[in-house]
Amino acid sequence: MTHTAHQAGPATKPPYAGTRPPRLHQIPAFTDYIAQHWGSEPIPVDLPEGTAPAAAAHRRRLSAALPGRTIVAAAGTAPIRNDDCAYGFRADSDFVWLTGVQVEGAVVVMTPVSGGHETTVYLPPPFRPGEDGFFGNAMHGELWVGASPGLTEWSRALDVAVRDVAELDTSAGLSSTNGPVLATAVVPETLRRSHSMEVSAELGRALAQLRMIKDDWEIAQLRHAVDASVGGFAAVAGEIPRAIDEGLGERWLQGTFDRHARTHGNGPGYSTIVGSGPNAPVLHWTRCDGPIRPDGALLLDMGVEARSLYTADVTRTLPASGTFSPAQRQVHDLVEKSHRIAMSHVRPGVNYLDFHFAAMEVLAEGLHDWGLLPVSVDEALSPAGQQHRRYIVCGVGHHLGLDVHDCSKAEWEDYMGADLQPGVVMTVEPGLYFHTNDLSVPPELRGIGVRLEDDLLVTDTGAEVLSEALPIDAAGIEQWTRRHMPSA
Ligand code: GLY
Ligand code: MN
Ligand code: MN
Repeated sequence: MTHTAHQAGPATKPPYAGTRPPRLHQIPAFTDYIAQHWGSEPIPVDLPEGTAPAAAAHRRRLSAALPGRTIVAAAGTAPIRNDDCAYGFRADSDFVWLTGVQVEGAVVVMTPVSGGHETTVYLPPPFRPGEDGFFGNAMHGELWVGASPGLTEWSRALDVAVRDVAELDTSAGLSSTNGPVLATAVVPETLRRSHSMEVSAELGRALAQLRMIKDDWEIAQLRHAVDASVGGFAAVAGEIPRAIDEGLGERWLQGTFDRHARTHGNGPGYSTIVGSGPNAPVLHWTRCDGPIRPDGALLLDMGVEARSLYTADVTRTLPASGTFSPAQRQVHDLVEKSHRIAMSHVRPGVNYLDFHFAAMEVLAEGLHDWGLLPVSVDEALSPAGQQHRRYIVCGVGHHLGLDVHDCSKAEWEDYMGADLQPGVVMTVEPGLYFHTNDLSVPPELRGIGVRLEDDLLVTDTGAEVLSEALPIDAAGIEQWTRRHMPSA
């Protein structure tokens, strides 16, 4: 259906044959009639419990970090796919962190006042009966996209001032007396130009620093996302026999997880990876269009994004048959060893990169023992060597939160160069990836890819593995797989 549907339909003998018929909104008889006889119930705002106070606390932290500065962030808009059909909208994470709002086109302005900032959220109001947009705007008209809460309901739910986004251009709050207005990159360019706002590295850095330390509400959201993801792994394992027997392949397992993620959260937190056999070593195998090899290792990298938009990011490599081959097990055991040692370096006060170096050392030693390194372990581990990275060109972890690679634009010294602190949530995800055409490894290792990825919360005394409901040892994974795949 397209928005041209709101042109008048042809009469039996159109009086305007050969000429353009009037648009519906140009026909008073129609606009008068469609404006009448609609019931109206207020639509409540549906936010995950605790969203508004959590967002208010986030704003207080940002306010304290940037006193006296005017701050503007925006939700963004979905790219158009064709005509009035857009790609799925997903609000910008900085905006969601500050407001909890997931409304396309929304903007938040934080104006400095004595003692902090005053917040106004600007929203595109729904087009209600009586407005042309009600039937004529395919993106925001209630007849097209459904009814949604009005500004009053939003204001009550968020406990902040909420205004029509159309008022933003003339908003007094956008003038700044204390340096330029600081904007996130998502703030529309037209608005930035008309108010001399700058996409602010200072604001970006402050947001990244603050978002790296999760509060209790965020941790609860991440726990929920991880628990839902564990459920998704079980759902996928249960479908392995069918995906093999009926030839449904990786697509079926991808669809199984994504449906689970949509049902138990907002959706997948990133493009689901289902790589069977020779596809398992392909790091970003999001094509997911191959068969499930009955004897292959099956790499599943899948995360549920909660309704609050916090996401999990978990990987397990399962034996599709229920039992690893000796070569698969050999690779898995080395990755497990690397994973355990890396995770033991995740605790407060330890430099962020320690877990990375610990993981790499174990992998390099193992690869050397297998005769796969052309140099000594020390040479490989030296900054000028890195030959072991042939089998793992990716990193082995990252911060996790509203984005799967959370705070990825943070300065090096705030992220890689910083010490871990309580409240950090991060992944640890070593792996080994032997491609089918990698002639540097013996044939039995070719086409094996293994990754173990867990989500860890740094606590006051150490770390908690949020995803520990899934086993990490090969025997435990075999048992778990068989339990969820009854016909194996
Ligand atoms: N799934 C993306 C990652 O593991 O970083
Ligand atoms: Mn990851
Ligand atoms: Mn992952």
